[in-house]
Amino acid sequence: MRKALVAANWKMHGSLAGLQTFLADLQVQDAVDSVLLPPAVYLSAAVALAPDGLACGVQDIGTAASGAHTGEIAAEMVRELGGTWAVVGHSERRLDQQEQDDLVATKAVAALRGGLAPMICVGETLAERQAGHEQAVVARQLDAVIDRIDRAVIGGVAIAYEPVWAIGTGETATPAQAQNMHEFIRSLVAAEDSQAAQQIRIVYGGSVKPGNATELFAQPDIDGGLVGGASLQADDFSAIIAAAVT
Ligand code: 13P
Repeated sequence: MRKALVAANWKMHGSLAGLQTFLADLQVQDAVDSVLLPPAVYLSAAVALAPDGLACGVQDIGTAASGAHTGEIAAEMVRELGGTWAVVGHSERRLDQQEQDDLVATKAVAALRGGLAPMICVGETLAERQAGHEQAVVARQLDAVIDRIDRAVIGGVAIAYEPVWAIGTGETATPAQAQNMHEFIRSLVAAEDSQAAQQIRIVYGGSVKPGNATELFAQPDIDGGLVGGASLQADDFSAIIAAAVT
């Protein structure tokens, strides 16, 4: 039985005062691995103020451990500050920074090197889904990464399926659409390592809210969520964490 995993991706939102209020009000659950992913500049404050049971991480990392890479942040530095997770390959970075599959894979490997668990984002655009290419796109994104991860640790990474057309649009994949893709993703991992496929957490992202989380998380291959807009308010995010308790 996989433990549910629910993460708050704050994107470029929040403030120090907002973080303090959020963490004072947040209700976590023992049965759920809960993660806060604030903008990296707030990581130290988040770690210092996080209630027991809330892990912290970052929304992206650089590929190098150190060196002349202006503006980049190493996984090792995140780990030193008490972070334990790094999102890699979010669709906003694939779009805004033109991140390609190979760079995303390198970042996943860098996260593991630095002692962080990578949360690897995959997902198709609306045009790709309308053309019937959603599985091919997700398979391409995943294949680039899976091959690069040491078999011994693959069960500890997380995959976030975030259909681009459902992010920030209020339009959620139906539980059946999401389940179909999660089952497909698990089958791709199983083709590499059947034991890891049973351990790996595959979380759904794209307009997850308190009102739809229960039905999404009830699907057999949906192990939790990566939440954007609805993670900014402590009561909403607490309700989503509670919806992941089985
Ligand atoms: P929303 O929940 O705002 O749709 O964002 C999803 C997301 O991109 C989380 O990483």
